[in-house]
Amino acid sequence: MDKPTQTALLTCGAGIVLGIGATLAAQMLLSTDSSSSLPRRRSSPELKEDIRNGLEECIGNTPLILLKSLSEATGCEILAKAEFLEPGGSIKDRVALHILRTAEAAGQLAPHSGDKVYEGTVGSTGVSLAVLCRARGYLAHICMPSDQSIEKSSLLEKLGAEVSRVPPAPIVDQNQFVNRARNLAREHSNNPDIPGRGYFADQFENDGNWRAHYDSTGPEIFRQCGGRLDAFVAGAGTGGTISGVARYLKPRLPQLKVVLADPHGSGLYNRVKFGVMFASTEREGTRRRHQVDTIVEGIGINRVTHNFEIGRPLVEDAVRITDEEAMAMARFLVEKEGIFVGSSSAVNLVGAVRTALKLGPGHRVVTILCDSGTRHLSKFWKQAGNVGGAWDMTLDDVLDADSRHKGTHGTVVQGEPAGAGI
Ligand SMILES: Cc1ncc(COP(=O)(O)O)c(C=O)c1O
Repeated sequence: MDKPTQTALLTCGAGIVLGIGATLAAQMLLSTDSSSSLPRRRSSPELKEDIRNGLEECIGNTPLILLKSLSEATGCEILAKAEFLEPGGSIKDRVALHILRTAEAAGQLAPHSGDKVYEGTVGSTGVSLAVLCRARGYLAHICMPSDQSIEKSSLLEKLGAEVSRVPPAPIVDQNQFVNRARNLAREHSNNPDIPGRGYFADQFENDGNWRAHYDSTGPEIFRQCGGRLDAFVAGAGTGGTISGVARYLKPRLPQLKVVLADPHGSGLYNRVKFGVMFASTEREGTRRRHQVDTIVEGIGINRVTHNFEIGRPLVEDAVRITDEEAMAMARFLVEKEGIFVGSSSAVNLVGAVRTALKLGPGHRVVTILCDSGTRHLSKFWKQAGNVGGAWDMTLDDVLDADSRHKGTHGTVVQGEPAGAGI
C-alpha cells in the first residue's frame, strides 16, 4: 500500500472512530428516558455520583470481613473491621479527624492561620495527625523519644510534620515526649512572635478520642452486623477504641460481652479483672528502665488513662495474649486469608478466638484489624519470620504457640515499653 492510500485509510478510520465516539457520547449525555421520549441527562438517579470531597471523606466505613478460617475453626463468626484500609493506614485516622474537627468547632483551631497541632506519639496517631493536618491546613509537630527508629521520624517529616526527638524519660519528667508536646503547645500559644496558636491533641485524655469511635466505629459495626453480635474484643492503648465502641453498643445490645485483649507487660488486664493497675513486671525490685515484656506496639499500658476509664465499667472480661500467640496468629492470617496485619491486630484476633471458644459455637464475635503489617516489619514481623507453605497450620498451632516455643517465651526485646507504639 502506497503512502497516500495509507494516510487516506487512517484518516477515514479515525473519522469513523471519532464519529462513533461522538455519537456514543451524545447518547450517554442525552439518552432517552424509558418512560418518555424526552432526552435524559447523564446524572440519572441510577447513576448517582460517588465522589469524596478530599481525603477526610475517605475515612471510616471500612469493610467488616468474615474471617473464614477462624470462623470455621471456632464454629463462630469471627468478623474483623478492616481499619488497615484507612487512608492514613490505621484506625487513628478517625481519632485525628474527630479531634481536629472538635477543636475547629470550639474555635481552638482555624485552617491556614499558622495554628499548629502538637502531639506526643511514636505510632499511628502521629501519622494520622500529620496527614490530616496537611489536608486541613495546619502544621503538625510530633514529639517522640530519641530511641525510636529513624524511619518513624523520617516518615513524619515526609508527611510535612515537624519532629522533636527527645531523650527517653518517665511520664513524671517534664521532658517526657508527651509532656514536651503539651509544653510546646502552651509556649506556642503564649508567644506573640510565633504566628497562630498551639493545640495539644492529647489523645490519652481528650474526649474526642473515644467519641470518634462512639460516632463512627460503633455505629458502623452495629449497622454492618444488622444489629446482631455477641462479643466485641479489642486491645487498648489509649483505650479510645474499646471505650467508644462499648459505649455505643452496650445500651443497644445489653447482652454484648466487651472483652479486652491485653499483651504481656500491660497492667490493663488486672485493671479489668481486679480493679487494680498492676503488671507483675512492675513488682518492687524488678523494674527495669524499660518495662518491656512484649513486642506488640500500639496496645498495652501501665497507667490509668481517661479514655480507658470512660469505658472500663462496660468491659467485663480480659484475656492476656503472649507474643508467641500473636506472632503465630499473624502468620496464620497470612497463610489462610492473605491478610497481612500488625501486632495489635494479631493480639485482637487471638482475643476474639479465645472469646469465641468460651462462648461456644454459633456466636458472632467482632474485632479490629488496626493497621497493616507493613508498619511492623522491623520489629514484630522481623521476629515473627517469613510465611510460606504452612498449609497444614491449624488454630491449635496458634493457641499452643507458647508451649511450642518454650524457652523463647519471655524474650525481652530491648527498647520500648508496652504500648510504646501509641
Ligand atoms: C496500631 C494500633 N493498634 C491499636 C491501638 C489502640 O487503640 P486505642 O488507642 O484506641 O486503644 C493503637 C493506638 O495507637 C495503635 O497504634
